[in-house]
Amino acid sequence: MNLHVKTLDPATLSFGQKQVQLPVVEGTENELGLDISRLRAATGMVTLDEGYVNTGSTRSAITFLDGEEGVLRYCGYPIEELCANCDFVEVSYLLIYGHLPTQQQLNEFQHSIRKHTLLHEDMRSFYSGFPRDAHPMAILASVVSAMSTFYQDSLDPTEPEQVDLCVRRLIAKLPTIAAYSHKKSVGQPFMYPLNELDYVENFLQMMFAVPSEGYEVDPDFVRALNLLLICHADHEQNCSTSTVRMVGSSNANLFASIAAGICALWGPLHGGANEAVVEMLNQIAADGGNVKKYVAMAKDKSQGFRLMGFGHRVYKNFDPRAKIIKTACDKLLAKRSIHDPLFDIAQELESVALNDEYFVERKLYPNVDFYSGVIYRAMGIPVQMFTVLFAMGRLPGWIAHWKEMHTSDGNRICRPRQIYTGPTQRPFVPINAR
Ligand code: ACO
Repeated sequence: MNLHVKTLDPATLSFGQKQVQLPVVEGTENELGLDISRLRAATGMVTLDEGYVNTGSTRSAITFLDGEEGVLRYCGYPIEELCANCDFVEVSYLLIYGHLPTQQQLNEFQHSIRKHTLLHEDMRSFYSGFPRDAHPMAILASVVSAMSTFYQDSLDPTEPEQVDLCVRRLIAKLPTIAAYSHKKSVGQPFMYPLNELDYVENFLQMMFAVPSEGYEVDPDFVRALNLLLICHADHEQNCSTSTVRMVGSSNANLFASIAAGICALWGPLHGGANEAVVEMLNQIAADGGNVKKYVAMAKDKSQGFRLMGFGHRVYKNFDPRAKIIKTACDKLLAKRSIHDPLFDIAQELESVALNDEYFVERKLYPNVDFYSGVIYRAMGIPVQMFTVLFAMGRLPGWIAHWKEMHTSDGNRICRPRQIYTGPTQRPFVPINAR
């Protein structure tokens, strides 16, 4: 992958008597960055950027997004074209290996994923230890972390063959781990993977089949789920991906790094928002469907309430994934004649908010999570599993970034600095004098 950047005329930073020249770098889509890597050595100063709003933490050749124009491309290919032409496994290959696979490469990749879908039988006993009402994201993170105890022959981040085995195991087994966490919560027997099925079919089978009855996978659901997984597959340096890179930078193995990413994704300000959206829509429905009341609450800072599924750190125009997912949602509900009152509330909420000065001024648009929950509901996926599906989708992106970090020049442990604001030195006070 091309991680080189063009270097332009330097910028000059002055502070008191000191002056320092800072290189300006340019990426392939003409975005500019001030390279401050020598700033501390030259001036003794660090930068302060809480929430990393202005910080480019790395060079990366995986995903490009333009938040102003609503553009998202994986390895140069627009998300709309990938959604129209590929399934999730092909997109995973693209992200992880940096190019679209030939038919032969795709066959080999699919075959090896099918071969790794089973979990080590002893791992099933973990599930007996979790409480029935455990959140499936907690189970997912724990079981993925535990993979490093069962698959010790694929832990070394410096051995490409081990990494590749680890990658395939993760992609193959995550749907099995996820489906088992659902089966545990509903008290049904675990369904083993059926390797004649494709990736998404297999996941739906493990989620919804029971041993006592036949189960037919619904092709509409397969299409919709492929689309959702592709839309979630990567989003450059978001919170969970940065976490995976951060943990991986200490040379922690890939299972451990992905487990950390799953934990980061769980939060309601990140992947957990899809669950929070449906909870919010349910709350509005139970409260008589008064959308305007909730829009007013979101604008009133003293209420501490936000419209879930609205706003994005990067997209300040529209989220292209939300567009794709809303269209898919419309189609699926119409084709199957499903009338979901939550979809009506979601549409009304979107229209009220998009015409409201508060949201317009702050450029707050529906994000990827706003409509995904409505599709998941239509498939019968329980709310607690929504973020788990996000994790299944994001997995190839996390892997791609972890691999990119390990193979880049100048790869160093991630270790930010700080501006200390605590007490200056003071004498220790013995416990009986406090
Ligand atoms: N509802 C109401 N007001 C909002 C919302 C919202 N959903 N989002 C942002 N705002 C307001 C903030 O109060 C702030 O107002 P101010 O300028 O008057 O103080 C302004 O818009 C900017 O918001 P920030 O929090 O500074 O924006 P930031 O980039 O830090 O946060 C985030 C982005 C976390 C996504 C935020 O918009 C949010 O909390 N949204 C709801 C949760 C959500 O949907 N998360 C999913 C994100 S997508 C993903 O992870 C896949």
